[in-house]
Amino acid sequence: MQTTRRTFLKTSTAAILGFPAILRAANPNSNLQIAAVGCSGKGFSDISEIGSHGKAKYVGFCDVDSTRFAKADEKFPGVPHFSDFREMFGKLRDGYDAVIVSTPDHMHAPVALEAMRRGKHVYCQKPLTHTVWEARQMRLQAAKSKVVTQMGNQIHSHEAYRTAVKLVHDGAIGKIKEVHSWQGNPGNKYTNLTAPPAPGPVPETLNWDLWVGAATMVDYAPDVYHPFKWRDWQHFGAGTMGDFGCHILDPVFTALELGAPIHLQAESEGLNPYTWPAAETIRYVFPGTKWTAEKTLALTWYDGGRQPDAALAQMGEGTKLPGSGSLLIGEGGTMIIPHVAMPQLYPVERFSAFVIEKVASSSHYHAWVDAVLGGPATTDNFDYAGPLTEAVQLGNVATRFPGARLEWDAPALRIPNHAEATKLLTKTYRDGWQIPAVG
Ligand SMILES: NC(=O)c1ccc[n+]([C@@H]2O[C@H](COP(=O)([O-])OP(=O)(O)OC[C@H]3O[C@@H](n4cnc5c(N)ncnc54)[C@H](O)[C@@H]3O)[C@@H](O)[C@H]2O)c1
Repeated sequence: MQTTRRTFLKTSTAAILGFPAILRAANPNSNLQIAAVGCSGKGFSDISEIGSHGKAKYVGFCDVDSTRFAKADEKFPGVPHFSDFREMFGKLRDGYDAVIVSTPDHMHAPVALEAMRRGKHVYCQKPLTHTVWEARQMRLQAAKSKVVTQMGNQIHSHEAYRTAVKLVHDGAIGKIKEVHSWQGNPGNKYTNLTAPPAPGPVPETLNWDLWVGAATMVDYAPDVYHPFKWRDWQHFGAGTMGDFGCHILDPVFTALELGAPIHLQAESEGLNPYTWPAAETIRYVFPGTKWTAEKTLALTWYDGGRQPDAALAQMGEGTKLPGSGSLLIGEGGTMIIPHVAMPQLYPVERFSAFVIEKVASSSHYHAWVDAVLGGPATTDNFDYAGPLTEAVQLGNVATRFPGARLEWDAPALRIPNHAEATKLLTKTYRDGWQIPAVG
């Protein structure tokens, strides 16, 4: 039997570690062969950053818009192009080890789950998925396939967020009593629409059918969905909470070791069936951890111009909260974690002699390549990123039922006191694109 590179890696690793389909430690000197799905916007940045690792080698670029390969081609010439990721995965067969997923949110799970089912390691943009159910499937499939994963909220590895985590763990402000996190954008900032506009002609360079992918079909309209503005639409994106929640809540989740909330309740303005609310407040209650002062922890998310009461931060007269970030209220002071800047401790008098020891940034992107090649495990893997994304997307469920307190039964993946909200934990997939539950 012909031994391909992949079967060699599989069998040699299986022999060493006792499980299949993982490249880890098999051959640290070899290149990592990577296929990228979504090649412009953040996709180009992911391709550039990951490609700057000396052992990263691209073997396939996939994009549904043929105008969007140019920058990736200029930087990494000669990589074959595909428009359908399923065709790329089939054609590359054993000739790729790992996949970068940088598509709009609604296609993260369809692409990443297919890659992981094939035993490929995955770097997937934030929010990890479009729904709570998908986030659960991603965590389960990563564990089942024993692949190396990393969510693309790269600030997780930035000195600002790492230093904030250390400050909490060092007890700088004592145990944490409550948390407030916010981002200024309204949920439909990019289109300002509350219903789909009239359809328009699809550009010849765009495969709209593949762009819609697993979502149920919607007519193309210029400058409304592709590129970038899909964020506003419940059908494809996840609003401000989805765009920023996995960034801004990340140091809070890491520092406090939060998992699933117990219950949550939202209030919003500008709710409509199509785009995300113009402003919202989402109040979560989590079980307490060893880093919290009480048996439960209240965490409140605000967006669309809403913010917590600045007085809670004890910053002193004339000082404003940053435009986005988190406020942690501890037993011995408060900490502001601006998005993205070094944390600040208050009240100023109490911390005037306190020296903040910085934790250096590291490459979030290279950490994934290194982990695949046998280095230290990734810290933003789907075991961590799955529950973080579940909490973020639960907020997007709650915001569509303003005022309703939703109880969350995480093990059963249901909201036992709200049948309609339970339905929104998942969504209807287009025929031929259904995602099987991980068995
Ligand atoms: N980590 C960060 O700081 C950060 C910043 C921006 C965006 N993002 C995330 O990156 C992802 C992409 O966002 P963006 O702003 O670059 O969006 P975008 O619409 O500007 O770019 C998406 C790219 O993917 C392509 N694409 C769309 N559907 C595809 C499919 N089915 N197969 C292959 N290619 C497809 C598009 O043609 C386009 O080139 C989102 O999940 C977003 O949340 C993360």
